[in-house]
Amino acid sequence: MAAIAISPERLLADLDTLRGIGRRGTGVVRPAFSPADLEARGWLAGRMREAGLAVAVDRMGNLFGLPPGDAPCLLVGSHSDSQPEGGWLDGAYGVIAGLEIARASLEGGGPPVAVVSFQDEEGRFCPLAGSRVWSGRMPLAEAEALVDLDGVRLADLDRLPPGIDAPAAVPHGRFRAFLEMHIEQGPVLDRSGERIGVVENIFGICGERLSFTGEQNHAGTTPMALRRDAFQGLARFATLLDARFTALAVPSTVWTIGHVAVHPNAVSIVPGRVDFSVQWRDADAARLAAMTQAMRETADAVAAERDLTLERSGFVTIPPSRCEPSLVAALADAAEALAPGAWRRMPSGALHDAANVSTLMPMAMLFVPSIGGISHSFDEDTDRADLVLGARVLARAVAAI
Ligand code: GLV
Ligand code: MN
Ligand code: MN
Repeated sequence: MAAIAISPERLLADLDTLRGIGRRGTGVVRPAFSPADLEARGWLAGRMREAGLAVAVDRMGNLFGLPPGDAPCLLVGSHSDSQPEGGWLDGAYGVIAGLEIARASLEGGGPPVAVVSFQDEEGRFCPLAGSRVWSGRMPLAEAEALVDLDGVRLADLDRLPPGIDAPAAVPHGRFRAFLEMHIEQGPVLDRSGERIGVVENIFGICGERLSFTGEQNHAGTTPMALRRDAFQGLARFATLLDARFTALAVPSTVWTIGHVAVHPNAVSIVPGRVDFSVQWRDADAARLAAMTQAMRETADAVAAERDLTLERSGFVTIPPSRCEPSLVAALADAAEALAPGAWRRMPSGALHDAANVSTLMPMAMLFVPSIGGISHSFDEDTDRADLVLGARVLARAVAAI
């Protein structure tokens, strides 16, 4: 096995440069297709070219760096878009680790390695939108019709970064397998003191956008019994939903009402409309389906009880997925070699592009600790020594695979 000798200094310097694009305090604001996201992709494309990789961006905006030749190779990467308030490592770490491994392997005469930054992993339009389209789970035309929370249509946005003149199709057959390096984004490794997580499976997710519409009216003159208060409907829904989901859940099941827009959002007006999101996640597809039914029954019941109109849209589901056992074994061997006794096998509660790619080719994932278990926050961070160790473990596994 020819070792791939990564450069820790170059890895960390590239991560720091990427952090500077869309930087906000200690974190980043780089939502998919924003000027900062496109600037970051343009910079990444330049780094890929400097490394000797050929750059290809597909019609969805997924950015690939391809090694010379056309022999099937490993694909390594993640995403470089961020949440509306994002950490500097979520996705970025996996892309830069992939870039460094592809670059070091080319320099050292190792195996050909390709790198990818998928577009809109964070779900501005829908969760894992870029890999969803690339994997064929969603037709491009369907993605182009998606609308974000501000009413912007994906079809109306520029999807190519600066310096890329035309989109290019990137065929799946070019790749043998996909490896995604990521920060854990949860508390498990930080609490145990272990330094590497070898992922065995990724939780599935369902989500939907809902609206209750009642009657907007004066907050002083409208008797309580005559109100059709959309916000009170949401409050009732949230309470009932917690009870329904709690009855179905196992300890790892999670659910979130993360986006709420009350209309007109004024102190002295009975709210006439509330738009909100509901999302639920679990490792078991049957439980996700049972939760979907419970969620819909609860929303229907509240609408009937409160005389509200219910609208639902944008239902999305990504099934749970499993990492490929021989890739998991290669990652585990590399972890034991470089972090003996300081790693564990674990599930991923967070969603990753690897879940979509698993429908096309074998995939596996590697985690490093998140300090305090914090992510999707400007406070997200990881010890630099762990960032280097994670990339070394991944490089060792890539060479072995
Ligand atoms: C991905 O960022 C997720 O929400 O799990
Ligand atoms: Mn991520
Ligand atoms: Mn994320």
